[in-house]
Amino acid sequence: MNLFRKKDIAHLAQDAEKSGFVRNLTAFDLVFLGIGSVIGTGIFVLTGVGAALYAGPGIAISFILASVACAFAGLAYAEYSSMVPVSGSAYAYTYASLGEFMAFLVGWNLILEYTVTCSTVAAGWSGYVVGLLTSGGLNLSIDFLKVPAEGGIINLPAVFITMFLCILLVRGTKESIFINRILVFVKIAVIFIFLCLAIPNIDVRNWDPFLPFGYQGIASGAAIVFFAYIGFDAVATSAEEAKNPSRDVPIGILGSLAVCTLLYFIVAMVLTGIVPYTQLNNAEPVAYALRVIGYPFGSAIVAVGAICGITTVLLVLLYGQARVFFALSRDGMIPKGICRVHKKYHTPYLVTIGGCILVSLIAGFVPINVIAEMANIGTLSAFFIAGFGVLYLRITRPEIKRGFKCPAIYIVGPMAMLSCGYLMYNLPALTWIRFIVWCIVGIIIYFVYSYKHSLLNK
Ligand code: ALA
Repeated sequence: MNLFRKKDIAHLAQDAEKSGFVRNLTAFDLVFLGIGSVIGTGIFVLTGVGAALYAGPGIAISFILASVACAFAGLAYAEYSSMVPVSGSAYAYTYASLGEFMAFLVGWNLILEYTVTCSTVAAGWSGYVVGLLTSGGLNLSIDFLKVPAEGGIINLPAVFITMFLCILLVRGTKESIFINRILVFVKIAVIFIFLCLAIPNIDVRNWDPFLPFGYQGIASGAAIVFFAYIGFDAVATSAEEAKNPSRDVPIGILGSLAVCTLLYFIVAMVLTGIVPYTQLNNAEPVAYALRVIGYPFGSAIVAVGAICGITTVLLVLLYGQARVFFALSRDGMIPKGICRVHKKYHTPYLVTIGGCILVSLIAGFVPINVIAEMANIGTLSAFFIAGFGVLYLRITRPEIKRGFKCPAIYIVGPMAMLSCGYLMYNLPALTWIRFIVWCIVGIIIYFVYSYKHSLLNK
């Protein structure tokens, strides 16, 4: 058995040419794709929850800490994607650097990341919509609004939004990108409305104490709010559809990360400045805070914006999920028939539909809080390996052309591993146990199915 057999980089480039995708995304599209996939449940929900439970007003610092890990990992991703412009991001990169077994594990964890995150986000969408409808006076039966563990039958709005976006994604990237652009505008506008209404109402006494849970609070907060950054790597998964991937993908990743970090920091400071952090542990902290300071109408607008924002996150993450499935199935790691590209729409329709059904089932029936932290650990593990892989390739394959060279790779690579490892270390023990079980299941699948069916086996 050869667990370290590798895909050749040149071979990956051929895959990209053969995939049948159309290269129609610009750097600007990619920054938008990044922002679209990133700002959602994290800023609209976790800022408040993280402040109340983990870090106090210091949650703003947690956002910066988490973004440092993302920036290191993002730089590593950017070099990778400029070298290996194919779908499947970290999975494809690992295949070329650390070999098949590690690549499968990364791919397996990316499936976890995308599926669990999409389900969480779909459930969050449902929560906001139901909240808005209920506060508008509608009397809805909870049977079709909640999962069985919460006393309902099925979370139908979550299933609805997932399948609706599925149709958009199957019909084509260009349309999805267009809708994404409009919704990203709406969500940024809403954040600015929040800031304009809230900033004049800041009471600096709310920032005292700034670190009620000490420095450890900042670290635990960062491990949780890391969720708010999940998705910026989706930009790297779209490299095969970028017009000029070696230039545009790094711009897309780092540009969207910079914009999001700035917004998160400001929103966290302002939010904890207008109400005491102890009041922020609820399902809609941003809208709640506006109501408290006397802007019920502003609060409703922000809620609508949050729904738009969360929709774009879901759209882009479902898109990323399909690309990861696509990459795994193209290589024979999972059944090959499912990576077919639609003749008319040029999209991988079977994996898109299959992935959306999976997300719908989880969001429709499983209590989301149980698995939300799984998204963080799956993503961080993939980032950790990316930090190692890019350094490894720089040492072992220095001759390969890199459209983007990560500066100070001997610092950035290890820092990506260190910072992501540190955030993982700060996640709860139960999350670790579930994560290990997931990995063991993956390893069994690899040995029973993927090793034999892998294209490299032929
Ligand atoms: N980063 C995404 C969000 O916050 C997953 O919703």
